[in-house]
Order: sequence, then C-alpha cells, then structure tokens
Amino acid sequence: MKALILAGGFGTRLRPLSCTRPKFLFPVANKPLIDWTLENLSKSGVEEVVLAVNYKAEELAAYCGESRFGMKILYSKDEELSLGQTRRRYKALGTGGPVKLAEKLLGDDDFLVLNGDILTNLNYAELMHEHKSKGGVATIALYSVEDPSRYGVAELASDGSMRITRFVEKPAKGQVASNLVNAGVYALSPKIFDYIPEAKHCSMEREVFPRLVAENMLFGYGFNGLWIDIGKKEDYLKANMMVLDSLQRQKRLESPVLMGENVVVEEGAEVGPYVVLGDNVHVGKNASVKRSVVFPGVAISDSSVVEGAVIGEDVSLGKAVRIGKNCIIGDGAIIKDGVTLARDVSVCPFKEVSESVFKAKCLM
Ligand code: GDD
Ligand code: MG
Repeated sequence: MKALILAGGFGTRLRPLSCTRPKFLFPVANKPLIDWTLENLSKSGVEEVVLAVNYKAEELAAYCGESRFGMKILYSKDEELSLGQTRRRYKALGTGGPVKLAEKLLGDDDFLVLNGDILTNLNYAELMHEHKSKGGVATIALYSVEDPSRYGVAELASDGSMRITRFVEKPAKGQVASNLVNAGVYALSPKIFDYIPEAKHCSMEREVFPRLVAENMLFGYGFNGLWIDIGKKEDYLKANMMVLDSLQRQKRLESPVLMGENVVVEEGAEVGPYVVLGDNVHVGKNASVKRSVVFPGVAISDSSVVEGAVIGEDVSLGKAVRIGKNCIIGDGAIIKDGVTLARDVSVCPFKEVSESVFKAKCLM
C-alpha cells in the first residue's frame, strides 16, 4: 500500500516557530509529528510514502531521508515559481494539486492521502478495507467534534450506507446539520486523478469532494480515538497534553524515579517510588519495580515484580519472576519464567536460575 502525505503548508498559525522549521517537524512529546504519522503508517502495512513538500522542503527531506520505519520515502515538490533574482515565492498547489502531481509515483492501485499536520492513532488498514468494500472513488475518515465550523463537514445518507450526501469546507455556524468532520485522511481509488486538473492549484475539499458527492462516489468512515490537527498553537499544545495523558494512563510512574537513555516501560507497568533504571532497560507489560536499582541493559519481562533489590547489568528476568528485598543479582544472570527469589538471595554473574528460593542463600 502507498500513501501520500500533504506536507507543504506554510504553518502560518504556528509562527514564529514555523519560520525556522516546517510544522511536520514540530515535536509532539519529544518526537517530530511526521514520525508519529510515519510509524503509524508503517504499522498499517504501508510500504511506500510520497511526501508532497513545498515550504521548507529541504529541512523535511534532510530529516526523513530515503527510508524511514522500513518504508521507502519519495518526494514530490510543488513547482517553485521564481519571481526575479532576489525574491522567490512558492507556487502552492493546495490539497488536490499535489495528489495529481504525484500521479506517476502513486501508480494504479488504491492509496491513502493524509494531511500531514494531524496526530491520530487511526487504523489506516481498516480505512482502506472499508474503502474497497464501498467501491467509491474516495472514502474520508470522519471524526466527531463539538464545533465543526473550523473543518470540512460531511452529511451522511440516512440509510446507513456511509455515503456522503453533502460536504462543506469551513461552514458558517448552523449551515450544516452534522458534527462529523473531515479528519484529513482519505483512501482514494486511482479514478481520483480524473477529477483533479494538471499543474494548478486545486482544493480537494472545495472542488473535488463536492463533485464526488454529486456522483454518489464519496463515502465516510467514522472512527474514535486520538485525533487532533496541530496547525494552531492552542491545538499544538493540546496534542502534547493528549500524548502525555495517554502515556500516563499506560504506565504508572510514581516519583521519585530516574531513568537513563532508551528506557522502555510497557503498558500497564508500574515503576517507583525510589527506582533508578539505567540506560536501555526494558520493563515489560504489567511488571512492577519499586525501591530498586536496575543497572543498564536489564530486561524485566511481562508481569515480573522487583522490590527492594539490586539488579546487575544485562540481567534477564523472565515472565512473572519475583525478586524480593535485599536480593542482589550478578551481571548477565538469567532468571527463568515464574521463579521467585524471596529475600536476601545473591546470584553470581551469568548464573541461570530455574528454581525458586525462599531463604537467604548465595547461588553460585
Ligand atoms: N504540498 C502542499 N502544497 N501541501 C499543502 C498545501 C500546498 O499548497 N497547502 C496545504 N497543504 C497541506 C498542509 O500542510 C496540511 O498538512 C494539509 O495540506 C491541510 O492543509 P491545512 O492548511 O492544514 O488545512 P486545514 O487544517 O485548514 O483544513 C484541512 O484539514 C482539516 C482537518 O484538520 C481540511 O482538509 C479540512 O477539511 C479538514 O477538516
Ligand atoms: Mg490543518
């Protein structure tokens, strides 16, 4: 599957920070927005991504390179219009023009188009599946919001077919009887190229979608979950808070906790209080670490519990292991699934332990 990301907007509502970087490189919870999108596309089985670039194209290309998250990255640049020797401005193709421009790169199979300024955990594979089952030219991901006037709004047929009967971009309040908005993600059939003029500005929302509605060829795909357009500064801040909230929900961290570089704490794990995790430590799902020091490179597998212990470098704890008070585990030791070391147990370096120990002991 291929995807095109519209990544050429000027980010005017995020000035002055967008004067020095494209909005797609704005960090959201310390990760550039484009990486959130690319990672999700890669998980949905996309193999090739076309970045439709324009403003600050070079910065984006320098960051994304030729491949990312295992996907090939291609670039398609809106034409540059030179006005004299010193003044230059970009010729913007809008949201439709760049799709037509990339026709050859996108090929003759159904593909995805995404507004690049959206943070979402939408399931792209499911959107594509729904699109194929409806047989329209375009299927738009739809999200329900309180105030739809800032977005493109879709009205659906009342027969449950998910056919869009009206599409209005940025309607006046009360103009449209729906709060389902265009989430800026589309699954498109290659027939779409017949609806977009060559080499000129074209708005998908104002020109193409209304024509598809008239031909009964536009469908919607409703989804819940995380969705936000980071294009306004309030929303950029909100996007960061949404990610922080979801990280907080997933893993419970209780201060004080100190973590090294590249630490991964999986969903449902509890870390703290009084825990130091060294670099490259992995804490598995639903594991718990309290009042302990964990040296670099340790893997604590799912559902294990470490309390009041010192765990040496590169130790591997299997699933549902319990390491209790005053235990000290030597570097490189392997503690097998289900083993309990109740308290005051020392384990020599590189020792493999496959049986539980319930009294003070040194395992050589
Ligand atoms: N390459 C290129 N060239 N990309 C462009 C251009 C252009 O000329 N103009 C805009 N884009 C990119 C933007 O960078 C952004 O990723 C996407 O196209 C949409 O443009 P915005 O300017 O962010 O539009 P919007 O947020 O006002 O409205 C759009 O998104 C809403 C969802 O957030 C519309 O698609 C609405 O219908 C939709 O509801
Ligand atoms: Mg936007």
